[in-house]
Amino acid sequence: MTKLSLSKEKIKVVLLEGVHPDAETLFRQDGYNNIHIYHSTPDDHELQEILSDTHILGIRSRTQLKGCNLAVCEKLMAVGTFCIGTNQVDLEGCKSQGIPVFNAPFSNTRSVAELVMAEIILLLRGIPEKNAKAHRGQWFKSALNSNETRGKTLGIVGFGHIGSQLCILAEAMGMKVKYFDIVNKLPLGNSEAVASLNELLPQIDVLSLHVPDTELTQNMIGAKEMALLPKGSFLVNAARGHIVVIEDLVDALIKEHLHGAALDVFPIEPASNEDPFESPLLEFDNVILTPHIGGSTQEAQVNIANEVADKLIKYSNNGSTSSAVNFPEVSLPTLHSDLTRVMHIHQNKPGILERINHAFSSQSINIAAMYLQTSGDVGYVIMDVNCESSETIVQKLNGIEGTIRVRILH
Ligand code: NAI
Repeated sequence: MTKLSLSKEKIKVVLLEGVHPDAETLFRQDGYNNIHIYHSTPDDHELQEILSDTHILGIRSRTQLKGCNLAVCEKLMAVGTFCIGTNQVDLEGCKSQGIPVFNAPFSNTRSVAELVMAEIILLLRGIPEKNAKAHRGQWFKSALNSNETRGKTLGIVGFGHIGSQLCILAEAMGMKVKYFDIVNKLPLGNSEAVASLNELLPQIDVLSLHVPDTELTQNMIGAKEMALLPKGSFLVNAARGHIVVIEDLVDALIKEHLHGAALDVFPIEPASNEDPFESPLLEFDNVILTPHIGGSTQEAQVNIANEVADKLIKYSNNGSTSSAVNFPEVSLPTLHSDLTRVMHIHQNKPGILERINHAFSSQSINIAAMYLQTSGDVGYVIMDVNCESSETIVQKLNGIEGTIRVRILH
């Protein structure tokens, strides 16, 4: 089957939107040299043209893969979103065409945690207000309401990648950390798990939110929750905009129940840097407002480039789909040099495996190893077989009803 597998030189890799150059480097180091770099975002027509002969596509958040006709992208093998989210991709459409999508969901964990830690220090010292006044020519030298972090209690809601990283930084600064998570999470350092949100809120000086946007977390922090926070405490939200009820936050700030806040995310965010940013929080000097840049650092871009390129290369080289967002996940061993790897992506229906097995047995081909995973209506079976060359088998596999794609590696 050697001639049926695509060599690395023939695999066309297209990286759009100025993906960090480390991604290209990784592909080249692995022997891929048919790489095309675009710094711009293609319009729908250009994108469709690119897709017609691309095997591996790398995009960031602006390229809209939702409106594309994926059914005609026969060569497209895999998509990498060199960012955190995958909203710009028709994940189900890709899956039904046998195209796994990879992203880098946790590459900017440290960046967010560092920003939040910095904001906690600034809020506790009353810096946002002093800074705003200084910009207006006012000298506000005072130690009133200005505190060190040491000994203060930080409440973290959502003890996942970012929440737990923040815990480490906060403890290093001498803070006590208490956290609430719906899943049982082992404490790090001296941190302490608390059984409920309501139990956590009265015990803390600063509340920092690190939960995903779900039905449960929408409007999670409103008037009732803010009232449970001690007077003079602070709120930080670098998670998602809908978690905090902004009108209730405004109210708590006007009443000086909360002494300040830092927000990186908002219920409505401008679509681009050219659009205006509007929020009732603009008038508060004691509120730090940042344009959803918690994870936007050079280090995070490098992490993203390496993580996504690595996943795409692994899929291309040996078929592994570990941590694909839309696809059956399989982690495969390196292919033995004597064997050929046949990857069959199919509709997850009864009887397909039997027909695949029959395709091999009817040709007297021995299957040395077989791996299978399904996800919803798509199945992914990988067979390492003892045979050198057979177009017949590929034709037979393609002929099985419900087959989406067949790929060969040698
Ligand atoms: P993660 O998935 O590692 O952690 C989330 C944690 O929240 C999990 O431990 C989960 O069990 C917990 N959780 C979920 N629902 C909960 C609930 N109702 N109550 C309590 N705990 C709950 O996610 P990660 O990477 O730590 O991200 C956290 C948030 O930060 C996400 O909303 C993400 O979108 C946001 N984020 C923001 C960025 C920015 O630029 N500001 C950049 C990266 C992530």
